[in-house]
Amino acid sequence: MNLLITAGPTREAIDPVRYLTNRSSGKMGYALAEVAARHGHKVLLVSGPTSLDLPPGVDFLPVESAADMFDAVRNQIGKADAAVFAAAVADYRPAAPSAEKIKKTSETMTLELVRNPDILGSARATFHFPGVLVGFAAETDDLEANARAKLEKKGCDLVVANDVSRPGIGFDSDHNEVLLVYPDRLEPLARDTKDRLAHIILDAIVELHASRA
Ligand code: C5P
Repeated sequence: MNLLITAGPTREAIDPVRYLTNRSSGKMGYALAEVAARHGHKVLLVSGPTSLDLPPGVDFLPVESAADMFDAVRNQIGKADAAVFAAAVADYRPAAPSAEKIKKTSETMTLELVRNPDILGSARATFHFPGVLVGFAAETDDLEANARAKLEKKGCDLVVANDVSRPGIGFDSDHNEVLLVYPDRLEPLARDTKDRLAHIILDAIVELHASRA
C-alpha cells in the first residue's frame, strides 16, 4: 500500500519570531509511519515540527503551517491508497501575520484569528480521494458520539478516537487508549503504547483496503 500520514502540530506565524501551536508531539503519526514502513508499505509522512527522529524507510515532507500541510496533502494524496490524518492541525491562524517583529507598545493587544482549511474534511469533498480515509479525534466529552459525527461528516472509513481529558494518555504521552469507530461498529482498544496501538491500527487499515479491492 501507498500510505500518506499527517503528523505533529502545525505552527501559525504571528510575526517572524512568534507562532501559535499546540501540544501534539507527533508520536502517534510517527509510530504509524514506522510500523507501516517496517511492514513493507510505502509511506509519505507529512509532518509539522516535532523533536522525533524520522523512522527508517519513510519519505518525509516537512511543513510548518496548516496551509502548508493542506498544499502538501493536496499535491500528494492522489498517489495514496490510504490517507491517515494524525496531525493536530491548528483550527485558526493569525489573520494578518506581521512581516516585522511586533513591538510591545500598548498594555493590551488583540490578535485576530481566521479559520484554517479542514484538511481531512477536504479529502473526499475537494480532493475526491477514493481510498481508505482515517481520521483521529481528540475529545474531552461524548467520545463515541463526537467521533461518529466526525466520521460521517468527513466520509472516513475509520476514526481513531481518544479521550484527552484523561491523564497519562494522548497528547505528548507514549501511551494511548483509543476507540476504533467504524461506520457500522465500534472497537475499544485497551490502553497500550503508541507503538503497539500503531500495529493494531495499521492492521485495521490493511483490512479496510483489502475489503475495498
Ligand atoms: O475536527 P477535528 O479537528 O477534531 O478533527 C480531527 C481530525 O481532523 C484529525 O484527523 C486531524 O488530523 C484532522 N484535521 C485536519 N485539518 C484540520 C483540522 C483537523 O486534517 N484543519
